[in-house]
Amino acid sequence: MEFEPLHRDFGARVNGVDLAGPLTGEEVAELHAAIDEYSVLLFSQQNMTDEAQMELTSALGEPEENHVTFGRTGEIVYIGTVGNVIDDDTKHDESASHTRSMKGNNLWHSDSSFRRVPSYVSILHAYEVPDEGGATEFVSQRSAYDRLSSDTQAEINELHVLHDYVFSRTKTAPVHDNHAASLPPIEQKLVRTNPRNGRRNYYAGAHARSIVGWNGIDSRRLIDELNDLATRPEYRWSQEWRPGDTLFWDNRCILHRGTGYDANRYRRNMRQTRVRGAGLTLAE
Ligand code: OGA
Ligand code: MN
Repeated sequence: MEFEPLHRDFGARVNGVDLAGPLTGEEVAELHAAIDEYSVLLFSQQNMTDEAQMELTSALGEPEENHVTFGRTGEIVYIGTVGNVIDDDTKHDESASHTRSMKGNNLWHSDSSFRRVPSYVSILHAYEVPDEGGATEFVSQRSAYDRLSSDTQAEINELHVLHDYVFSRTKTAPVHDNHAASLPPIEQKLVRTNPRNGRRNYYAGAHARSIVGWNGIDSRRLIDELNDLATRPEYRWSQEWRPGDTLFWDNRCILHRGTGYDANRYRRNMRQTRVRGAGLTLAE
């Protein structure tokens, strides 16, 4: 595999691998190492199918069930649609409640940071993309942590933070009652350490609700400041999707967000799977 960096802080385009595989053990090890190093990996012109994406996901670890379907119905599914496509002939338009729910993805977030065991990586593959809009933006909370003063690092190193899906998502759309009940707020470490290279990052984003033991005003001030520092325009890298692109991102240290598109005019059809993290962040 060959790696071409995408941004000063993180990210690489990966050439020389067919993700629809099957992958060798060596290739899987190389992908894990690249995730630890680059945080975001872009692979173009992949001949993906749902079956191949599931195999790829399982090769990288334990697939994480989709919390929306599980929360609403109790049904376990491992792959989900991102975008507005229902089938070849139909799509959700701007007025659909599905479209409104999806807009929660336009807040900077880390997938599943509100789960007891949060996600390791997300894998998103593009089948159909809008002619305009629909990019996904990324920033590194590892680089952001490195940019903090050593005093600020010391102040936040031992803090815990509550991540809460209902808190963040009710800002854009109502959360189904069963779904909400399935996702109580979860305590996470605010500062995480990569087990392979020892690099630290903070773990905030839209789902971060409050700092454990702090009052509301101080809590919000710190979380908002950390999010603002991480997401300044010069630190962003934007993925302008083409059909056939597959992207991995490391949810342990990356924030991402959708930038929106006109669901009345365009179809956007992407499929997402996630690999479960290694355990509770509090046990890291
Ligand atoms: C996601 C996500 C943003 C987008 O798939 O987890 O947040 O651009 N996507 O669709
Ligand atoms: Mn997401």
